[in-house]
Parts: sequence; C-alpha cells; structure tokens
Amino acid sequence: MKKIEVKIPGSSYPVYIGNGVFLQLQKLISKHALYKNIFIIIDENVFNLHSDKIDRFISKSNSKIYLYSINATELNKSSSQLSDIYSVLIENGFGKDSLIVAIGGGITGDIAGYAASTFARGVQIVHVPTTLLAMVDSSVGGKTGINFESTKNIIGTFYQPNFVLIDLDFLKTLPEEEVLCGLGEILKYSFLIGGDFLEQINKKYMKILSLDTKFLLDVVENCISFKTGIVEKDEREESGLRKILNLGHTFAHAIEIERNHSIKHGQAVITGLSCALHLSNRLNILNDTLYKEYLSMLLKTKNQIQLGLFYPMKIYEIMKRDKKSANDKIRFVLIIEAGNVVIDIEAGMVDVMDSINRGLHHFVATEHK
Ligand SMILES: NC(=O)c1ccc[n+]([C@@H]2O[C@H](COP(=O)([O-])OP(=O)(O)OC[C@H]3O[C@@H](n4cnc5c(N)ncnc54)[C@H](O)[C@@H]3O)[C@@H](O)[C@H]2O)c1
Repeated sequence: MKKIEVKIPGSSYPVYIGNGVFLQLQKLISKHALYKNIFIIIDENVFNLHSDKIDRFISKSNSKIYLYSINATELNKSSSQLSDIYSVLIENGFGKDSLIVAIGGGITGDIAGYAASTFARGVQIVHVPTTLLAMVDSSVGGKTGINFESTKNIIGTFYQPNFVLIDLDFLKTLPEEEVLCGLGEILKYSFLIGGDFLEQINKKYMKILSLDTKFLLDVVENCISFKTGIVEKDEREESGLRKILNLGHTFAHAIEIERNHSIKHGQAVITGLSCALHLSNRLNILNDTLYKEYLSMLLKTKNQIQLGLFYPMKIYEIMKRDKKSANDKIRFVLIIEAGNVVIDIEAGMVDVMDSINRGLHHFVATEHK
C-alpha cells in the first residue's frame, strides 16, 4: 500500500492508496486511535454493489456502527439532505466523539465532509473515495460543501480528514461515463503538471478508460501528490496558489447549472477545459501550436459527451453571478503552457462569450451545430 503524507500545520494526514486495501479500514482506524462511534455515510449504489466488503467491515468491527445511505445526486447535495444526516446522528446518540466514514464519490464526500465539520462543532472523518474523480481529486484537500438554490458548492468549509483510504478495487463497478468523469479531472492535472505526466496521459489515456490498475495507481499517486503540494502551501485559497486547481471550473460549474445537472461534473470539466483553452488562446496567453495539441487531448472524449443545445448567454450570466466575478469582468485561471498557469486573469463579455461558443461547439451533437 502506498502512502502520501499531506502536511498541513495542525491537520496533517496520510492518504493510503492500493488495490484491495479497504479490508484494512478497521486496522487503520485503530492505528490512528479514532473514535469507535462510527457513522458511515455511503452512496447507495456503492452499498448495493459492494455490500460484501461493507458487511465484512461491520461484522469484524467492535465499534458502534450506523449505516446511512444516500442517493448521490447534485440535487441531494443539499441542505435538506444535510438536515436529515444531523437528525439521524442525534436520534442515534452520536455526539462529539463520533467518526464519520464517507464511502462514495465526490457528492458523498462533499456532504459527509460538511456534516463532519459542522456537527457537534466538528467530528472526525475518514474518506473512502469510490469514483475515479474522487480518488484523483475531491477526497484530498479538505474542501467540503453543498449546493444552495442554484449555486454549486456555495455553502462549505475547509475540513481535513483524519486519513483517506483509496482502494482501486471499487472502480471495477464504476460505469463507463463515470470513468470518463475521472478522466476529466486527470486531464486538468495533466495541464497543471505538464512534462512527462502530460505525455503519459496523452499516449496512454485508453489505459485509464480500460481501468488498467498498474497505470491508474501511478496516475492517482501523481494527481494526489501534486494536489497535496498545492494544498500544503495554500490550504484555504488565501495566497491564490490553490486557485490553479480551478482550471476550467469557472466554465464547468456554470455549464452544470445551465444544463440543470443533466451533464456530470467531470464531463462539464472537460468542456470547461475546452473553453479555458480557447480563452487562453484568444487572449494570446497560449500559442496556437500548444492550443491545438491540448485541445486534441480533450477532443478524444467528444463522442462520449452529448451537450445538447446550449445557451451561451445563460452560461455567461451564471458565471457572472459566481463568486469569482469582480465588477463586470470575470476572473479566470488560464494556461500559458502545460505546467505553467496564471490566475486572476480578467476577461470581458465578448471574449468570454466567444470562448463558451467555440469551446462547447465540439461537444454538441451534429444536428445542433
Ligand atoms: N471537494 C472537492 O475538492 C471536489 C473536487 C472535485 C469535485 N468535487 C465534487 O464532486 C462531485 C462529483 O463527484 P463524482 O464524480 O465522484 O460523482 P458522484 O459522487 O455523483 O458519483 C457518480 C456516480 O457514480 C456512482 N458510484 C460511485 N462509486 C461507484 C462505484 N464504485 N461503482 C459504481 N457506481 C459508483 C454514484 O452512485 C453516482 O451515481 C461534484 O459534486 C463536485 O462538485 C469536489
């Protein structure tokens, strides 16, 4: 089992990565001397597909365990789902000395993390990510949150877990379109990291889609190590460094809302990266050669993303309302070349609208073009 240490003053923790390592959960809980009042928040699909593993963990444990399952949708990443979690915690006698174990994708991790950071002014939490997206990104770094009205992740906290346990074995049941979503965040990391990692992802991206365990172990380790390096320097997005992790996301979040969540987060990230490349090129930050090279990496996925007819003005208005907006301009993370990005670049309506149009049209079914 590999181990990456996230060294944040006052809240350092390890990320364990391996294949078939879920069986070690109880041992790790004991090793870290965590509480034995365990409230598992689990994605109901994961529970149905992996009940043998969960049952084995429960039967071998000498802890008090409550199993709470959720239907992981963006609409349920909500204050009403959160209220239900608080109610069930209280009804079942959970208090300050509780450990929440989040087993699922980014939706489960985000809402469980928020519940852990607020319930009884903060209880312990362990993340067990089960989607590729959560393994390479959302389970590490401590961002928690829920959606409110029609704004994504607008309510949230920074709350680091006690440890993260990544077991690639969960991926065996992950639907193809969810693997593609993970690829979306991996492509983002390849643009942020650059060099050999970008080359490997470009050459071997089919190994990701076919869930080649050996390659995926490397990919997950690279993404998590990179994110760890950023989070250690700027945990709360104060110096600005952490903002680079939002590459493509200002567009992506607005596209998700405009599509009323009919497009998945990871798919939206791929289309958002396309818009960010267009804007970087339009503003003469990214040269034509690199622009074409990077865009071609994204377009390998275009047949698997059906955006449908979209409304650029609506996407633009949602972005303006987003917290990243200042005056009439919106600030973006843009790319000079892979491994070298710039933050807080302001762009006006004409540039942004053009980038939405040009960035998204690749992903629209032919009849809408
Ligand atoms: N906190 C962060 O830093 C951060 C970073 C990136 C994304 N996010 C958030 O993460 C969310 C997206 O996460 P996601 O892509 O993991 O989606 P998700 O949690 O919705 O999971 C996607 C789907 O896969 C199913 N699933 C999960 N694991 C499975 C498995 N092993 N086998 C079969 N099915 C499985 C789920 O039931 C769900 O239907 C978004 O809400 C996004 O805002 C958070």
